[in-house]
Amino acid sequence: MKILLLGSNGQLGWELQRTCPDYVTLDACDYPQIDLCSTGGILERIRACRPDSLINVAAYTAVDKAEEDRDTADRLNHTAVAEIAGYCRQDNIRMVHISTDFVFNGQNHKPYLPDDPPDPISVYGRTKLGGEQSVQKILRNQSLIIRTAWLYSSHGDNFVKTMLRLMKEKQSLNIIDEQIGTPTWANGLARAIWTALEKKISGLFHWTDAGVASWYDFAMAIQEEGMTAGLLNQAIPVFPIPGHLYPTPAKRPFYSVLDKTSFLHALDLKPIHWRVHLRSMLKEIHP
Ligand SMILES: NC(=O)c1ccc[n+]([C@@H]2O[C@H](COP(=O)([O-])OP(=O)(O)OC[C@H]3O[C@@H](n4cnc5c(N)ncnc54)[C@H](OP(=O)(O)O)[C@@H]3O)[C@@H](O)[C@H]2O)c1
Repeated sequence: MKILLLGSNGQLGWELQRTCPDYVTLDACDYPQIDLCSTGGILERIRACRPDSLINVAAYTAVDKAEEDRDTADRLNHTAVAEIAGYCRQDNIRMVHISTDFVFNGQNHKPYLPDDPPDPISVYGRTKLGGEQSVQKILRNQSLIIRTAWLYSSHGDNFVKTMLRLMKEKQSLNIIDEQIGTPTWANGLARAIWTALEKKISGLFHWTDAGVASWYDFAMAIQEEGMTAGLLNQAIPVFPIPGHLYPTPAKRPFYSVLDKTSFLHALDLKPIHWRVHLRSMLKEIHP
């Protein structure tokens, strides 16, 4: 099976490369070899590679910056994705595309199902919704769209690594306890993507690790597990604060737990709790 991976240097792109099964021939590329701002180069790459499937994990992921930089966010997350889907249709290539919990407004009181109505409240969420809707419209069942949330990996910048750094530098920390979601190790998602490709699963699905947490819960777990793993020498006080005390340019969903039952069923996989995955990821970090 030949796969073209766009966005190989990001968290998920890196995890896809190191979990790639033996039977896959992977052509992995990222900016600046391919630039989603000018898709001409991508068409050339597709034609040179002639893949069976294309996995797109490249994206504009700077959620707050997107509020100011709408055009670039829309180009990367929406119109470039639509163009790539068009190329895939022309050349009969399956497309795997990653979307986000930020397509929802966060007012639910139970986990979001894949067909719950989206209602993004940020530029990032709106542009990602534009991207996934284009893929669905252009490729229909020749595509797999996976919404995920709160990704982290030992590669790249993320909440886990920021917390470990701040917990060494600061005397105390204030962390929001209002937003509720599910921390998700990108490694688990990467393995799910390979299984889904092998099983030729199509459609719109959700994937996160199992369980639920606030950012405050997540920070506390990072401190506890970080100390157990020998990455932190001492615990500092961590205080829960409401969101309005930490204002950000982009609004974030209050509750964005995703219901992943249909995907787990299709994949025939059991969910792994986020705290178990956090422990696995921390083993990869050096003090
Ligand atoms: N991170 C999360 O918490 C989260 C949550 C929900 C959904 N998602 C989605 O999951 C997917 C993977 O996320 P991630 O955390 O792995 O993202 P990431 O680490 O930010 O990686 C994104 C990749 O896109 C590349 N990229 C940026 N601009 C580009 C351009 N003009 N042309 C080509 N490539 C470009 C980046 O390259 P450079 O490194 O060179 O900039 C980077 O390799 C994305 O679709 C994201 O929207 C992420």
